[in-house]
Amino acid sequence: LAMSDIFPVKPNRPREETRTSKVAVRQTGQMRVVFATAELSPVATVGGLAAAAAGLGAELRRLGVDLDVVMPDYGDVALVDETTMPLEVPDWVGSATIRVGFHPVVGRLHLVSVPGMARPHPYLQANGEGWHDNSDRFFRFARAVAAFIDRDPPDVVHLNDWHTGATLAALADPPPTVVSIHNLAYQGISDGSWLDRIGPRAAHYEWWGGVNPLSGALALADRIVAVSPHYATEIITPAGGFGLDEPLRNRGDDLIGILNGIDSEMWDPAHDPLIAAPFDAASLDARRSNRTALLARVGLPDDDVVLATVVTRLTHQKGIDLLAPLVPLLAQIPMRLAVLGSGDARLAAQLHSLVTEYPDTLAFVDGYDEALSHLMFAGADLYLMPSRFEPCGLTQMQAMRYGAIPVVTAVGGLVDTVTDADVHRDGTGFVADRAEREDLLAALFRAERRVRDRRRRSAIQKRGMAIDWSWHEPAREYLALYGELAANPRIRSESSRR
Ligand code: ADP
Ligand code: GLC
Repeated sequence: LAMSDIFPVKPNRPREETRTSKVAVRQTGQMRVVFATAELSPVATVGGLAAAAAGLGAELRRLGVDLDVVMPDYGDVALVDETTMPLEVPDWVGSATIRVGFHPVVGRLHLVSVPGMARPHPYLQANGEGWHDNSDRFFRFARAVAAFIDRDPPDVVHLNDWHTGATLAALADPPPTVVSIHNLAYQGISDGSWLDRIGPRAAHYEWWGGVNPLSGALALADRIVAVSPHYATEIITPAGGFGLDEPLRNRGDDLIGILNGIDSEMWDPAHDPLIAAPFDAASLDARRSNRTALLARVGLPDDDVVLATVVTRLTHQKGIDLLAPLVPLLAQIPMRLAVLGSGDARLAAQLHSLVTEYPDTLAFVDGYDEALSHLMFAGADLYLMPSRFEPCGLTQMQAMRYGAIPVVTAVGGLVDTVTDADVHRDGTGFVADRAEREDLLAALFRAERRVRDRRRRSAIQKRGMAIDWSWHEPAREYLALYGELAANPRIRSESSRR
């Protein structure tokens, strides 16, 4: 597929050449996209947004997009061949600059600096609470991104999540814009005083007397992308819309779902320096060494009892609390569970105390540990994801790629990626209907019975491993969307009733 098939070549906009000429070499006809995100692996990682932004960005560049990845400057990131430019922003923002240069892993990168942005963690203090000035920080960031867009408008703007949402308030006539929803549970709602500041289109951001950076972006963007097709159907219902279901419903066909991918080079069991023994679908027996290494690492007995793992942020969303009452029952299935997780201190404390009570059944590693996460997928028999909601979820795809069979709830992207092997001939895992103890327990029982049968087990593993979870297709879908918008900037889909 050539770039010109999807994107009609049009004359380049005249571009001031001086500022970024060292790093911005653009070919004629190339589409330029400003892609704004609060997280990007490996520069700043909190959750899946970082991996998704990095994976999609890299693939879009491979497809020929001239992509300006714009993110907050949290400090301490060294770029090579760096240029710093001032951004023209209103007084309330303070001084805003953007530095552009090359990052050794992500390539060309734009880092926006505004007062209060540089912090050791993008959102959280050391005690796990959010920084008290997070609204200010990201309103400033969004305003600076708007200034960056204004000084040299790209063909398309792509915003991600609430942190970038207020960008559109400041732009009276922005380029065609896409906003991706990675997680509707976070909206960055703040007090109404901001409405006087954020820009000429602030009225769209008014939300029950306050200001909601996400709702405004959902109203003003030309297209909205949910990070999985099923999530796109859930968020227009009161149960899944976190209060935004009605405005989302009103956008009709402007809301679509595009399933995330994973970085298929980073997540490749045949060439993974972070696991004990490489393997592929033809050498599944080699997983045994990884299993042994994992059990030793987490301190569980190495025998034939089925091992399930979890790799997660510890939050309500992920349903980890639902596992607590199941732990005493696991020995009866029988099954062991190893959890790698970081986040909510109370959930961590609950897991620690369960480990004390059931040391032969449960292991818990408290923290964010990328190296260990690879072994958790490479050595597990089952991979458990009891999410209450899950916009897309990356770990079930990472698990399947490594032959760990997923046991998931029927929500969000999990519906799009896992099919139940007891229901479908070509099933890839086990699905619990609801995020409830009973349903999860039943799914674990079923899964344990199946994976004890070696032939059935390897058939399920191989199906999961054969699926292309890369960004290859998803990036093409985004590119097609960009192309459509760049060709017909202001045409909203007919069903949009805004
Ligand atoms: P979310 O973004 O909701 O946290 P995702 O499944 O989309 O969930 O993405 C989480 C990403 O972070 C995955 O790449 C996963 O491997 C990684 N991850 C999550 N928790 C941990 C952890 N405790 N240690 C290492 N990696 C983790
Ligand atoms: C969010 C969601 C997760 C999704 C990720 C990347 O963090 O919780 O389900 O995979 O964003 O889009």
